[in-house]
Amino acid sequence: MQNKIKELIEELTLEEKASLCSGKDFWRTKAIDRLGIPSIMLADGPHGLRKQAGIGDHLGVNESIQAVCFPAGCAIASSFSRDAARQLGETLGNECQAENVGIILGPAMNIKRSPLCGRNFEYLSEDPFVSSEISTAYVNGVQSKNIGTSPKHFLANNQEFHRMTSNSIIDERTLREIYLASFEGTIKQAKPWSIMNSYNKLNGTYLCENKEMLTDVLRDEWEFNGFVVTDWGAMNERVRALVAGCELEMPGGNLDNDKEIVAAVQSGELDEAVLNQAVERLLNIIYKFMDNRNESVIFDLDADHEIARRLAEESIVLLKNDEGILPLKESQAVAYIGQYAKSPRYQGGGSSHINSHKVESALSVAGPNVTFAQGFDDCTEEINHDLQLEAVRLARESDVAVLFVGLPDNFESEGYDRKHLKMPANQVALIEAVAAVQKNIVVVLHNGSAIEMPWIEKVKGVVEVYLGGQAVGGATANILYGKVNPSGRLAESFPLRLEDTPTYLTFGGEKDKSIYTEGVFVGYRYYSSKNQAVLFPFGYGLSYTSFAYNNIQVDKNVLTDRDTLSISVDVTNIGDVAGKEVIQLYMSPKGSQLIRPNIELKAFDKIELQPNETRTVMFELDKRAFAYWDTEIHGWFVEELDYELSFGRSATEMIDSVIVHVSSMQTFPKNYNLNSTMGDIMADPKGKAIMEQVMGGVMSDSEVEKMNKADDVVNEEMMAAMMEGMPLRQLLSFVPGLKKEMLIQLVAALNS
Ligand code: BGC
Repeated sequence: MQNKIKELIEELTLEEKASLCSGKDFWRTKAIDRLGIPSIMLADGPHGLRKQAGIGDHLGVNESIQAVCFPAGCAIASSFSRDAARQLGETLGNECQAENVGIILGPAMNIKRSPLCGRNFEYLSEDPFVSSEISTAYVNGVQSKNIGTSPKHFLANNQEFHRMTSNSIIDERTLREIYLASFEGTIKQAKPWSIMNSYNKLNGTYLCENKEMLTDVLRDEWEFNGFVVTDWGAMNERVRALVAGCELEMPGGNLDNDKEIVAAVQSGELDEAVLNQAVERLLNIIYKFMDNRNESVIFDLDADHEIARRLAEESIVLLKNDEGILPLKESQAVAYIGQYAKSPRYQGGGSSHINSHKVESALSVAGPNVTFAQGFDDCTEEINHDLQLEAVRLARESDVAVLFVGLPDNFESEGYDRKHLKMPANQVALIEAVAAVQKNIVVVLHNGSAIEMPWIEKVKGVVEVYLGGQAVGGATANILYGKVNPSGRLAESFPLRLEDTPTYLTFGGEKDKSIYTEGVFVGYRYYSSKNQAVLFPFGYGLSYTSFAYNNIQVDKNVLTDRDTLSISVDVTNIGDVAGKEVIQLYMSPKGSQLIRPNIELKAFDKIELQPNETRTVMFELDKRAFAYWDTEIHGWFVEELDYELSFGRSATEMIDSVIVHVSSMQTFPKNYNLNSTMGDIMADPKGKAIMEQVMGGVMSDSEVEKMNKADDVVNEEMMAAMMEGMPLRQLLSFVPGLKKEMLIQLVAALNS
């Protein structure tokens, strides 16, 4: 194949090669009939197939084929299940084969920097490790069916406001530890066939022409070998973008940029080899799809609907269950209240919008003891008193009221950000009105991102179903009635108030600049380091059973950054029903000299346990689990420290922990000079030895005595602090007999 592609490139004219670098239309690459080069189709993604057979658009406006809407990113990430994400990928891969779609545009894996981002419903997590692991499983699933993926939007597209022009300004360490890290694992482990660059700028350069990101990091460091496609309309300067490593411009139709490529080659501005390489990368993927077509696959809508329900069940998070109000019993008189019991809000607006072949509501599968009242109209925030009165009456007459509420479509969408974290006033009023007459209330939430819950104390149960896809109603019913034991965990923190969020003062930026001043302190990294209370923490979720953790073990307590550490724990289901537990392992550096988050999630797994069953869960940690990104060496570095490793039920509840000591085998390049502080020098064992030797040589006994006396006059802390921060050059003023020449020699010795 490689030879065939090279031969084709030889035969293509300059104009034909340039033409391959943009689409034929909204969704397809260009064919070159003369040489038999086929056209392939790309389609959205990420949580269903949005294949537009007629007029194309990137906003989900025009009709697309009937398909199945699976749980959106916010939900599938909450499954904390690689198996679920892989199954989603495999199912979508099959659908693409059946529909002759070569690449599905997903997963959407930008970090949830703020709960205000309008597109958080599509994104996975505030934590790069969860985002990357869930995406890896998704990409592996899709690509196992010989269909390509396009993880998006690379990079730092964390707000919708001015997403086409805004400049995300992010320091190197934050970029590496948070925003790049979200993509890194997926690119390295799952090797996506393509990647979509975002609209925005990063540190002043549009992503389509950001060579540092598209070539230096993506290809040279991470060995990405697919092609880069623009987000739809994200091309800026075509020739610059080609040189930077952006191969395909979408959508197609505007031929000016193809002509610019031709002209640049003809004028000598662009080396034709760059164009050849881009065409080779495109053809590699086009043929990878064409040569592995499986035309026998059929798109079985009903079968995939069943999968959508199972995935939703896996993703639903039980947030509150006081007095064991859940699961409900079939014999109870239950009032389903709220519009979303009948017509659930199950997906978000914009390019991911699926033309669902059917939608299953909780009401459509309800038993005989369930009654229904609409309660509110989600087209408005105004209270509809008739609807509310009817709901209150029904709630009063029932044993339990289950309120199906959440955010209406216009509260969150692609294209704009949220302004607040509140639910519509009429829905809050409904909860309060029902709470006045009924103490057994369960709230079922349909929303794409965190909300404030000022009513939380008035209800006994809260079930977060997110935007759970077209089968969410059936899944919800199965959770409510205990046919399925809830096992989702929050992949994002729910703050108490918007004002508590790390980006409250800066989100959205100003004058098209969004400065990420909070640095690495995103989500729980911020709340936990600040000891800031939240409504529900990252990693949180209840079950109808309970799990005990025992016998935490490590295979070594002292290690270097070249070793791998095995850590295990025994997990037992100590309740009466089978259930799934998400085992979460957090790392805390102890006594770091750096500004680091208090805790970071380093491993997780989901297991199923029968009552009384115990399983040992083992994780392997390598250097990366302890490292931070160092901006002097421009690489990952492990501080020599004690690290606490804790198994936690969430980011705020650690169950058991162990301390290990890790040292670095990596030598840090030394760059001592006359302005280096005594503290830095004395912290380096070699520096300390040299210093003591030199000082011992120049200072007479009486001078040492004098200094010791000074110690008595000023307090010890003050003396220590002054010495710690004293630059070498200042010794000349304080140590009689010391010559500058001696200090210069000392610096040379320190650096040798
Ligand atoms: C979105 C992408 C989407 C593309 C094509 C863009 O507006 O940002 O996520 O894949 O349109 O619909």
